[in-house]
Amino acid sequence: MESALNPYSPGSGRRPFELAGREGEIDAFDLLLAKTRQRRPDRGIVLHGLRGVGKTVLLNEFRRQAEHAEFMVVSLEGRDAEGGPEAVRAKLARNLLQAGRKLNRRGAGARLIAALGSVASFSAKLGVSGIDIGVNLNQGRADSGSIEVDLEELVEDLCGALAENRTGLVFIIDEMQDLDDGLITALLSAQHLANQREWPFYIAGAGLPNLPSVLSEARSYAERIFNYRSIGALTREAAESALVVPASRYGASFAPEAKELLLTASGGYPYFLQEYGYAAWETAPEKLVTLGDAEIAVEIGRAQLDQGFFPSRWKRASKAEKTFLRLMADDGDAGSSTAELALRAQKKQSSMTMTRASLIEKGIIYSPALGTVAFTVPGMADYVKRLRD
Ligand SMILES: Nc1ncnc2c1ncn2[C@@H]1O[C@H](COP(=O)(O)OP(=O)(O)OP(=O)(O)O)[C@@H](O)[C@H]1O
Ligand SMILES: [Mg+2]
Repeated sequence: MESALNPYSPGSGRRPFELAGREGEIDAFDLLLAKTRQRRPDRGIVLHGLRGVGKTVLLNEFRRQAEHAEFMVVSLEGRDAEGGPEAVRAKLARNLLQAGRKLNRRGAGARLIAALGSVASFSAKLGVSGIDIGVNLNQGRADSGSIEVDLEELVEDLCGALAENRTGLVFIIDEMQDLDDGLITALLSAQHLANQREWPFYIAGAGLPNLPSVLSEARSYAERIFNYRSIGALTREAAESALVVPASRYGASFAPEAKELLLTASGGYPYFLQEYGYAAWETAPEKLVTLGDAEIAVEIGRAQLDQGFFPSRWKRASKAEKTFLRLMADDGDAGSSTAELALRAQKKQSSMTMTRASLIEKGIIYSPALGTVAFTVPGMADYVKRLRD
């Protein structure tokens, strides 16, 4: 079919034509915004799940919903932390300034202008200048130099003003597990205080399956201050929509066996559905995708994944880490016992802790339970085996 019309979107954070099976999360976020409008603030939301399940896409959807409701929205990404704690704080300040500038453009009342002064002083203290948001510094607010104190004051000032307009402040934070401990603690503490004082401040965070435990380790009350949602493979019905709906909008369809094959190959994982759907569209000469087309599409789709999705993680592993991953591959996606891995490697378990820790740090594996590790990337075990064969 015509490539220019291909409605599938394999790739990181790319909005799918059909955002299937996530109504629960979208409704939960809508409810949060609606409650805020009624001055009944709720808890923030944390999405956690494997690679490629659609967490970033959902966060982008939340951002759109919040912006539509005229909330102040500030985004931050774990990747921003690569430059170190100072860099990520500066990034936060810049994004706050940008969001503040937008609000001021829309016409802010006296209270909001004063609160924006706290954004200015917060940023000035972090050494961020050059983004003039047209307000005076609110000296002595949010500029103590302690990120925990300053963030709290900033959130308090902004929320006081935003609540008057029945809106609120939303921090959208992707790959949240990659932020440094100091910033995570400050964010949790601001969210905790906001919940207690009924300030309309919400963190909408997303990250790997270990994110909930990273947050709980930082502050034990983290368990209580968020609505945690596990994001995984799509249900059979939702996976079918993700595959069929985009094609049908262009008058194309799948023969039942072709659909079956593609759904099975994808395991319901959003990224794989997009990759196989894309390949099927490119392969099929007619507007009906046949079993023969689907068989070729699975081959091409997998080759595509083997060139991008999987190696982008594999390449980040050192030699010792690759050996560790190869040992894990024998256990499949279900995960491995670290004691068993040591046995297999004929090494002491303690000698493998560094490798294990650095793989977790790189986000390639995580620990689903004490003494076990699993890949964060669905299908990675098979990929590693394919490399070996
Ligand atoms: N609900 C959905 N229905 C159909 N396709 C989806 C859905 N959610 C995401 N996708 C598609 O899946 C792919 C991965 O999405 P996204 O980048 O949001 O995943 P992620 O969970 O953030 O992955 P990572 O952990 O690697 O950052 C994209 O190609 C996107 O278009
Ligand atoms: Mg993502």
